[in-house]
Amino acid sequence: MNLQPSNPPTLQSSVFIDYARYYDLLYHDKDYPAEADYVDSLIRRFCPEARSILELGSGTGKHAILLASKGYEVVGVELSEQMLSLAHKNASNPPTFQSSNLPTLQPSNPLTLQPSNPLFLRGDIRSIRLNRTFDAVIALFHVISYQTTNEDVLASFRTAYNHLNPGGIFIFDIWYGPAVLTQRPQVRMKRVEDKSMEIIRIAEPQMRPNENLVDVHYQVFIINKETQQTQQTQQTQQTQVTQQTQLTQQTQQTQLTQETHTMRYFFKPEIELFASQAGFKVLLAEEWLTGAQLGTSTWSACFCLKCI
Ligand SMILES: C[S@@+](CC[C@H](N)C(=O)[O-])C[C@H]1O[C@@H](n2cnc3c(N)ncnc32)[C@H](O)[C@@H]1O
Repeated sequence: MNLQPSNPPTLQSSVFIDYARYYDLLYHDKDYPAEADYVDSLIRRFCPEARSILELGSGTGKHAILLASKGYEVVGVELSEQMLSLAHKNASNPPTFQSSNLPTLQPSNPLTLQPSNPLFLRGDIRSIRLNRTFDAVIALFHVISYQTTNEDVLASFRTAYNHLNPGGIFIFDIWYGPAVLTQRPQVRMKRVEDKSMEIIRIAEPQMRPNENLVDVHYQVFIINKETQQTQQTQQTQQTQVTQQTQLTQQTQQTQLTQETHTMRYFFKPEIELFASQAGFKVLLAEEWLTGAQLGTSTWSACFCLKCI
């Protein structure tokens, strides 16, 4: 297998265009505080002196904000302008996290006495070069699975390597091949709502087994509840409402967005090969968050690599 990048990576338009608008609502049940604690525990275990983190694919910034509040200096890199602008908003007005496991400042660590906001930058994780290094690089919630070709994966690993201090570590999670092929992704439906909107998302996966890829076709129905209420009030004032009018109102209230996210699943020997090509060795491979052994029921695998 030739893992050398054939073409320099170019900045592509992100699939996270409309998706960004409702991303935080869609994942309001994701336990970001527990995940930040887990990442923090891996950093303390494998790089105890670490003070700075580069996050690749920082999305709406939730992990970065939590890790910054633990005392790390965090820089996030994100391709999607929409996700980036939500990250800036979240950083200036930190979201209320649902978990009771909220980050706490530790007076024993002088850095945590001045909790700072992360810095978020727009860039492509395959090619960005910031001309500075960090103690840890992280890429969380399947960011590496969005790198679908060997060239893109290797380019992202090289970005991580190039931004690490000697002995620095790279932590990321991926879709794990043995579970994807054994259990196979299923059609899923998710419904979430807040005061102003209701979102119904249908995810239909389509396997591309010869490329280790899954095309996940998302249909997202965004229902504007405020418009609905107004229209319902108007309706009660009308004596006769025709079927035709109801249909028109329905389309005005509900917006349909469709996006396809192509995700790559990986196997452990592949990650070992990419790691060694980029100058890393694998320190840890376990189930994301639980630390369980990897196997055919592991959908999300976490790897921690160290610069050789
Ligand atoms: C599933 S989201 C995860 C976001 C965030 N890490 C989180 O945990 O919520 C994947 C993110 O990776 C970003 N991404 C994917 N490929 C990228 C690339 N080549 N360069 C920069 N960002 C990228 C997407 O725009 C998206 O925000």
